[in-house]
Amino acid sequence: MKLSPLALAAALAFTGTAHAQAKLKVGLMLPSSGTYAALGTAIDNGFRLYVAEQGGKLAGREIEYIRVDDESDPAKATDNVNKLIKRDNVDVLVGTVHSGVAMAMAKAAKESGTLLIVPNAGADAVTGPMCAPNIFRSSFSNWQPGYAMGEVMAKKGLKKVVTITWKYAAGDESVRGFKEAFEKGGGQVVKELNLPFPNVEFQALLTEIAATKPDAVYTFFAGGGAVKFVKDYAAAGLKKNIPLYGAGFITDGTLEAQGADASGMQTTLHYADSLGTPRDNAFRLAYAKTYKLQPDVYAVQGYDAAQILAIGLNAVKGDVGKKAEFAAAVEKAKIDSPRGPFTMSKAHNPVQDMYLREVSGKENKLVSVATKALADPGKGCRM
Ligand code: BEZ
Repeated sequence: MKLSPLALAAALAFTGTAHAQAKLKVGLMLPSSGTYAALGTAIDNGFRLYVAEQGGKLAGREIEYIRVDDESDPAKATDNVNKLIKRDNVDVLVGTVHSGVAMAMAKAAKESGTLLIVPNAGADAVTGPMCAPNIFRSSFSNWQPGYAMGEVMAKKGLKKVVTITWKYAAGDESVRGFKEAFEKGGGQVVKELNLPFPNVEFQALLTEIAATKPDAVYTFFAGGGAVKFVKDYAAAGLKKNIPLYGAGFITDGTLEAQGADASGMQTTLHYADSLGTPRDNAFRLAYAKTYKLQPDVYAVQGYDAAQILAIGLNAVKGDVGKKAEFAAAVEKAKIDSPRGPFTMSKAHNPVQDMYLREVSGKENKLVSVATKALADPGKGCRM
């Protein structure tokens, strides 16, 4: 059928209007079961809080959420993400917590061109060899907090350290980042202990730490597993003799359950509970009022994932198809995060301050800025 110029103009105007008013489908692929369930909830809360603060719309488009429980199970990840992309036709994917699951999401996003914002998982590869113009991270790379703690512990004059973590990308890469900075600073990793994710049978490994008698221990655990590890470490009598340090996930969102067993622990992370900036105070108040809970780093990352989406969408007036313009806007933005402002690296990973924190009561209190504007090296990223 051939349309007259007038009818064509009218049809185009109608399509434009319909497009501007269509809901933006956000596929939230996060864990709501298993050891990382609470992390998924905090990310979801943070994301929705930012959207609610914008009146429930981003760039004029209402948001429709489609939530999938990924169970932090890499074996189910490809099916889960493909359902969101192919069956639900989401405009944007937001997920996830677990590095192994996130790598499957990044592969699917890269192949399909779907916009992906990673609100936690630190898999170095996502902003390394798997980087893409349509993939962004609002959180960290696993290397970042590990590297910052390596510098801190070397400066403390600690010499011999044992590391302990789960055997998967997040644990391996966190230890690798730690080791890189710690050994550069004159320390030595004398033993690397691990167990499969999400196993929490720590006893045999704790006995090995006691027998090795290192100056200190560096650890990566998170969620329910982190709670159990800190409690078991204290119960084994190690807390008073061998100080326990870690990437901040070991004490973030976990202090209520860890109680006194976590007291005094020092960790490094891109957030702390007592930053005291007007931006963070406002965020914490809004979060506490909305959810009757204190926020943690995961809530901040969810909130910032929505901010990144808003920055890109505003630049393209809600049209996610304009990928180059979307990316250009995010690449030049200074993101006004509760953690402090940050920018994106070329590979789309936050360039951000790493804080040294110490557990006091139920808070990860700020001690100092451990490393200013730490950028992941983004090894292997070609864009
Ligand atoms: C990860 O798998 O990348 C991860 C999970 C929990 C906390 C931090 C990182």
